[in-house]
Amino acid sequence: MRHRTIIEPFRIKSVEPIGLSTEVERVELLKDAHYNPFLLRSKDVIIDLMTDSGTSAMSAHQWAGIMEGDEAYAGSRSWLRMENEVQDLTGMQHVLPTHQGRAAERIIYGHLGGPGKIFISNTHFDTTRANIEFSGATAIDIPIPEGQDTALQHPFKGNMDVGELDRLLKEHKGHVGAVILTVTNNSGGGQPVSMANAEGVAAICKRHGVILMLDCCRIAENSWFVKHREEGMEGLTYREIAQRMFALADGAVMSAKKDAFANIGGFLSFRNEALAEACTNLLIITEGFTTYGGLAGRDMEAIAIGLEEVFDPHYLNYRIRSTTFLGEQLHKLGVPLMLPIGGHAVYIDAKKLYPHIPPAQYPGQALVSELFRLGGIRSVEIGSVMFGTYAEDGSLKPSRMELVRLAIPRRVYTQSHIEYVAETFEGIMAEREQVKGMRIVKEPKFLRHFTAHFDTLP
Ligand code: F0G
Repeated sequence: MRHRTIIEPFRIKSVEPIGLSTEVERVELLKDAHYNPFLLRSKDVIIDLMTDSGTSAMSAHQWAGIMEGDEAYAGSRSWLRMENEVQDLTGMQHVLPTHQGRAAERIIYGHLGGPGKIFISNTHFDTTRANIEFSGATAIDIPIPEGQDTALQHPFKGNMDVGELDRLLKEHKGHVGAVILTVTNNSGGGQPVSMANAEGVAAICKRHGVILMLDCCRIAENSWFVKHREEGMEGLTYREIAQRMFALADGAVMSAKKDAFANIGGFLSFRNEALAEACTNLLIITEGFTTYGGLAGRDMEAIAIGLEEVFDPHYLNYRIRSTTFLGEQLHKLGVPLMLPIGGHAVYIDAKKLYPHIPPAQYPGQALVSELFRLGGIRSVEIGSVMFGTYAEDGSLKPSRMELVRLAIPRRVYTQSHIEYVAETFEGIMAEREQVKGMRIVKEPKFLRHFTAHFDTLP
């Protein structure tokens, strides 16, 4: 018999209690947190969909590896295990451990960047952009045009615009630090990148003699989409698909807090020895010696094991299907979404959900507050709070889209948790016309979404 239900392919061995609050309590909690989800305490959150980063549940096998961690400063057994795993996966000989993704980004983009340099990506993640800009260089996003229309269906909305890439590489000849392909494209809605697109990008980079880096923190999830959506790829395993994509790149940067199921960690890997050596110097100065780079031996064990586990076909099928399941439930309720549903998150189009709230009154932030009030669900605004800037007259220059991200931690929530989230949206839809916009009461100069204070408008 064929079952309709795709079950979680694991049993629960250890549990973490969830504190259950009432709506009346949550109204007060929201006020105390100034309507900013980053200022809520996790103990007050029922379902935490703020991020899929560092929030995965580790397997019994990973926890056993934690006990086996070799904490030697130099030449740790755990490091050799992680190095071996990353070499096998990426096909790159030189591997540098880092404490998380942005540390790897600071090292490589700090080295390749600097004033006058240009970096080009399908979409730079915000820490990637920040590290590039901090070096004095410029970051340019060139997603395909289809990737910018939330309602449009396209199998690989995360792709890079190869025509534009070729043009930019000609225009900025001699000034390009690197081209960065982010798989899946997180800031572009968690959308996948096709193998054909990666091949096209790699060929253009090779022709222009420019370094191609793969931001591979969700490459296993990307491989699922390639196998199921791209012709000629169905016969390969998920790991083989990832290996084929790595083979196109000169280097990789990974936050192991995503597809390696680790709570902390990352790495850099390179084919080129000179580049690896230059980065090694920076690694030792700021992260740690080459055989731990800011990580404990136990973390490196967890990463090595996680990088193997993530390619399990039953896991990946469950992972992508369960994210889609949430999207489908919301779609049925008429919630406007970024379509098709991506790998690690469901993105809601708050501008369409609350057409009566203008961008300058932050419709995404209003939805984030409503989700917490009605369901104790924590989410994140990815719109004008995060990316908006001010014009000279003080008016808001809004972000292109007003999205709210529901990112799903790996192996943490069951189907009934997800059904609870969908049920909360019944309330969101019923009360959508009464929802008021928000204003910023207090904000810092940079990265304001983390610490800003908000209030509801009367
Ligand atoms: N690249 C991508 C595509 C990411 O999504 C992230 C982190 C990083 C790099 C940086 O890695 O956090 O280990 O320093 N994304 C998290 C998120 C924070 O919530 O999407 P990190």
